[in-house]
Amino acid sequence: MAKKHILIIPGDGIGPEVTTWGKAVLEQIAFQYGHEFTFDTAMMGHAAIEATGNPLPDETLEKAKASDAILFGAVGHAKYDNDPSLKIRPEQGLLKIRKELGLYANLRPILLFDELLDASSLKPEILKGTDILFFRELTGDVYFGEKKRSEDRNTASDLMIYHRYEVERIARKAYEAARLRRHKLCSVDKANVLESSRLWRETVQEIAKEYPDVETEHMFIDNAAMQLVKNPKKFDVVLTANLFGDILTDEASQIAGSMGMLASASIGDGTGFFEPIHGSAHDIAGKNIANPLASILSVALMLEIGFGLKEEAKAVTQAVEQTLKKGYRTSDIANTKDDVTKVLGTEQMGQKLLDHLQQAVSI
Ligand SMILES: NC(=O)c1ccc[n+]([C@@H]2O[C@H](COP(=O)([O-])OP(=O)(O)OC[C@H]3O[C@@H](n4cnc5c(N)ncnc54)[C@H](O)[C@@H]3O)[C@@H](O)[C@H]2O)c1
Repeated sequence: MAKKHILIIPGDGIGPEVTTWGKAVLEQIAFQYGHEFTFDTAMMGHAAIEATGNPLPDETLEKAKASDAILFGAVGHAKYDNDPSLKIRPEQGLLKIRKELGLYANLRPILLFDELLDASSLKPEILKGTDILFFRELTGDVYFGEKKRSEDRNTASDLMIYHRYEVERIARKAYEAARLRRHKLCSVDKANVLESSRLWRETVQEIAKEYPDVETEHMFIDNAAMQLVKNPKKFDVVLTANLFGDILTDEASQIAGSMGMLASASIGDGTGFFEPIHGSAHDIAGKNIANPLASILSVALMLEIGFGLKEEAKAVTQAVEQTLKKGYRTSDIANTKDDVTKVLGTEQMGQKLLDHLQQAVSI
């Protein structure tokens, strides 16, 4: 029996609509498997600015640090998108909480459901069976290295920098995840050219010795970008640096087709942070049409990576699969071939998912 305290940060726009269903799934999993999950809620983003003047109130940060995991919706509001000069902004809350919680690894699973093969721009026969988990390093690389511009403004440089400890800690996280999956890890770098990549590869090779049950492959970034669209099925866990991860995960998100289906997690040594990859989607907020499945798949990630509850995570993923198999869709993943009577709103889709979860677990 697992005992976990989970903080829900609904945020703005469709955030509250989708996290409601993520929380409902957690409650049902706790009930079905005999776990004790307790919950608290806190504000962040535009909602928090309106209420307190601060995108990340101290109370939210305290609650976050005291929890075992955080389920987040999204932050953002049209007001800020249209006025970049506004000094206090919703995304500051998100950046600050990531920093305060020491989240150094961003995980993005690319899980493709057979029923949605048509939603991608790649051929179904190439995509079928794709199931990748990306680990992108978040604290190093050109993002944080020294940036320079010459006095005449005609020359510029960004320092690509990594420290051994940064590579070690994310590599261990990725190997631990590979152990809960298909025991394969592909580390992506550019070690034929970059010194920081040579340090990356050398360090991953050392860490690999601690995980002899995981098969390790090293691949250059250019090859990885090509293999990802040529044969995505070959990948299980992909471990890579900040810049390469930024590019590869965006490329890979297109494999799955829809924003409303993709979950992500940011983890460090403390509390993990689980969220859909989409934003607050204010164009559809309050209309009961947002797809709640990305939030629900974020819960699956919380169960698997955050709590090590592999069977429970699988039950959630299978419930999503069953719901899609029965033909149920939200409008973002529906196409002309689908039965219009099975195109559901957020609430109806959330409820269908819960029904399937209950059936799957009771079989
Ligand atoms: N992590 C975050 O909190 C985060 C991430 C990205 C963007 N944002 C913020 O969100 C706001 C909107 O940004 P955007 O429009 O560029 O990105 P977005 O992800 O919110 O929306 C992009 C498009 O996808 C659709 N969409 C997104 N999620 C969906 C879902 N679950 N179901 C159905 N359709 C969905 C939207 O309707 C929109 O047409 C901005 O204020 C931005 O700053 C926040």
